[in-house]
Amino acid sequence: MTGRVEHLYVHVPFCAHRCGYCDFVTAVGRREEHAPYVEALLVELALERELLAPELKTVFVGGGTPTFTESRALARLLESLPAATEVTVEANPETVTAELGRLLRRHGVNRVSLGVQSFRPHLLRTLERRAGPDDVRRAVYHLRDASFDNISFDLIYGIPGQSASDLDRDLSEALALEPEHLSCYELEAKRGTRFTYAHGQELAAQAETMEAYYERVVETLTTASYRWYETANFCRSEARDLRARHNLAYWSGSDYLGIGLGAVSTVGGRRSRNTARLSLYTGPLMRGARPAREVEALPEAVRRRERVMLGLRLDEPLPLAGVRGALDDAALARLERGGLLTRAPADGAAVDEAISLTARGRFLAGGVAAELIA
Ligand SMILES: C[S@@+](CC[C@H](N)C(=O)[O-])C[C@H]1O[C@@H](n2cnc3c(N)ncnc32)[C@H](O)[C@@H]1O
Ligand code: SF4
Repeated sequence: MTGRVEHLYVHVPFCAHRCGYCDFVTAVGRREEHAPYVEALLVELALERELLAPELKTVFVGGGTPTFTESRALARLLESLPAATEVTVEANPETVTAELGRLLRRHGVNRVSLGVQSFRPHLLRTLERRAGPDDVRRAVYHLRDASFDNISFDLIYGIPGQSASDLDRDLSEALALEPEHLSCYELEAKRGTRFTYAHGQELAAQAETMEAYYERVVETLTTASYRWYETANFCRSEARDLRARHNLAYWSGSDYLGIGLGAVSTVGGRRSRNTARLSLYTGPLMRGARPAREVEALPEAVRRRERVMLGLRLDEPLPLAGVRGALDDAALARLERGGLLTRAPADGAAVDEAISLTARGRFLAGGVAAELIA
């Protein structure tokens, strides 16, 4: 039997060091566990394979730092994954060598998401990052040399001590390297992290400044001809559609299978999350059994709300068919009067078939979506 899920997420949790602001599912070091972990992943993939469509649209290998994984284990993983139209691997700049670039390319990877975060050494120190600006430049050089033509940068703004001119420098240094795609995230104080303990109050105090920083990010990148296609995501748009297909699948409510430590899947109206404890993950898989996981039903009402919350982050109209029951009509009218959204006919059909946020609405997308949901 073959399934219909066209998007696969693979979590590889190992990192050289735990950055203070990060709350992703990670494990520091543990080189001797990389190969057994990959074997466990492949057992999980085999157990879930029947959910997957014969041809996948996207595979995303995220972390953690997938490119920190011991290279034979990484090669074994990549060569065992199903092919897909878009295959992305997350990489930290200091891990990217000429050899790694070739290894990724040889194994069908066609997109790399590089965790740049900032080019300013004092801000990188605050974030406890290992890579400096020269590592980023070197990584891009190696990836281009390995003929990668789809590179994305992750940038973070709102780092304590970051001035507006620091932000401008970060954006112009990023643009100078001509990435096809950029994700720009406001630094979030994640509960329970070292960073939040040390800097949580500073982050809370700068919330208003961050609105101006966000506007500066959008202004700079759109002026440089990047398409602002999602709240925090931008891509070049001259020749190809370079939006992140994998993330677009999440944002538009498609089903996806996630394998690996702590990985989340949404398939057939159910959401499951694998255990985040390494031994509880690998132990059962070594015996051929599924790992511990939490499963919840996703009632249609919840799915509709998610489609509104996520769909409004995109720069394309959100069709009302299928989400109408989730919307508060009075709020819809109020937001329209307030100039935050417009209703548009879709292909000359009914007047209110789709809604779009105005530019001002997009800066306030989270609040608009929250108000709109009945
Ligand atoms: C799961 S991380 C993994 C990527 C890679 N290991 C790295 O550190 O670059 C993916 C991205 O999430 C973003 N991120 C992680 N923690 C964040 C936080 N507290 N606030 C905002 N963005 C965060 C960073 O931009 C990071 O590149
Ligand atoms: S930010 Fe990236 S490198 Fe740092 S701990 Fe998190 S996943 Fe690992």
